Formats: sequence, C-alpha cells, structure tokens
Amino acid sequence: MSKIIDGIKISNEIKDEISKKISIAIDKGHRPPSLKIILVGGHGPSRIYVNAKLKACEAVGIDAQLISLNDNINQEDLSDLINNLNTDNDVDGFIVQLPLPDNISVQKVIEHIHPSKDVDGFTNDNIGSITSTNKKLMPATGLGVMTLIERYAIDIESKKCVVIGSSRNVGGAIAQMLVQREDVTVTVCNSKTKNLKSITIDADLIISAVGIPNLVTEDMVKEGVSIIDVGISRVEDSSKKSGYKIVGDVDFENIYNKANLITPVPGGVGPMTIVSLLQNTLKVYCDKFKI
Ligand code: GUN
Repeated sequence: MSKIIDGIKISNEIKDEISKKISIAIDKGHRPPSLKIILVGGHGPSRIYVNAKLKACEAVGIDAQLISLNDNINQEDLSDLINNLNTDNDVDGFIVQLPLPDNISVQKVIEHIHPSKDVDGFTNDNIGSITSTNKKLMPATGLGVMTLIERYAIDIESKKCVVIGSSRNVGGAIAQMLVQREDVTVTVCNSKTKNLKSITIDADLIISAVGIPNLVTEDMVKEGVSIIDVGISRVEDSSKKSGYKIVGDVDFENIYNKANLITPVPGGVGPMTIVSLLQNTLKVYCDKFKI
C-alpha cells in the first residue's frame, strides 16, 4: 500500500462532489457561487497560488474573479474595497491573498472582512468558532489537514499528535481543531521550542507548519509515524529551469522509509487548502440560498 497521502487525489474527489452540488443548484435556477480574490502587488508565489485557486473554482463552477491591486494601495482604500464586497449580495465570499505590502496591517485587513464572507476562515469570529459548538467558516489549511486525516482514516484516537507551528491562522488553528476531537493528546511546538526532537520522537502524528526546510529530520521521528507537512518554502535548485524547487518542513526522502503515511510537498496539503476554500464558498452559498 502506498504511504503517500495524496492531496491531489483527495482534492479532486472533493472537487467532484462540489461540482455536482453546484450543478444541482444551477439546475434549480440559482446563480453560480461567487468568489472574489484580492491580490495586492506582484508577489511571485502569490500570483501562482491565486492562479491555482482561480483554476480550481473554474473546474467546479464557482464564478471566481481576481481583483488585482497595485502595491501602492493604502489601508483606507483597501478597507473601502472590502466594505463594498462585504455588502455586495452577489458576492458570496472573498479573500485577500497574503502576504501584503509592509505598509498594510494584515490584522486590520482581516478584521474588516465580514465573518460571513471570510472563506479563508481567518477572522476572529471564525477562528474563535473552532472552540464553539457552532462552527462557522473553518480556517482553510486546518480544514484541509483535518479532511486528510479523515479521508485517510489516520488512526489518532488516544495517540500523540505534535503540531509544530503555532500561528493563529494555521498551526494554532490546526492544534485547536485536533483538541476539539477530545480523543487526541495534542502538543504544540514552534520554531523556538528547545530540543524539539525530545517531543517529536514520541509522536504518532506530526503536523509541521513553520516554513523551515529540513526542520524535521529522520532522527527526530519514530518508526511508523504519520506526517502531514504544511510547510511551503522555495529553495535554490540549479537543476530546475526556474532555478528553485518547492519543499516542505520535513526531510521527506529520508523519513519516507520510517513513516506509515506522509504528505509530499508539493501535492499534499497545498491542494487541500485550495479545496477547503471552495468548500467554504459552497457553504456560504448553500446557507444563503438554503440549498
Ligand atoms: N497566502 C498563503 N496561503 C494563503 C491562504 O490560504 N489564504 C490567503 N488569503 N493567503 C495565503
């Protein structure tokens, strides 16, 4: 049996499910779901991610449009645009692609987004709802990770899970989602954790989300570990035409033999984050039209 947790395969399965639901809604006379993606400036990787999001939307029948802004836009103008999207009934959801230029406060931007349209699941309201019985729009990467655990039936009941990375939107959110299961022992580490190996060596599941290549090496994991690698970094690779390759936080090649299951990078969590965005957009749409 393959040890690879195939995010492309699972995301394609979910895209098929989404596509069917949208076709049914359209057959009933509804308009397609609508998503806007705000991209500020020309940050190279962001443009690639945004294009992948637009393509995925098109594949399932979500009407997605890019709003491309110059990187000299100021906080007020961006807030005005967000206010307009918040009140536009023809827009089901929108995201502001990160990172943003230094003169713009990411937190101010996020808190301007109405939680009901926050399909990234980044606002306080949505992140806070992870710990509520009334779950709202879940942070997209965390939702993607939990979907992989579910669809691969990774057995973590009564097991030790170590999350490396404690950012609000990603690592912290994933850890909190795991805690909510109430059957897992969750340890949260980050890039400042001393002697990380002493913690990871006992883990049954390691989820790494810090963006440091080769942070998790073979000597840090036990035989039979499952690994979900959320990290995405560019490292130089002269053998590639682009001059770089994309890697995760985990030394995939050397850990592969020891692992029970492992995500590749790319092709693991990345496609799942995108499909979670589609799922959140569909959720807003279905709730709005009571489908
Ligand atoms: N930049 C990298 N990943 C993401 C994401 O999931 N959402 C947004 N808005 N920006 C990102």
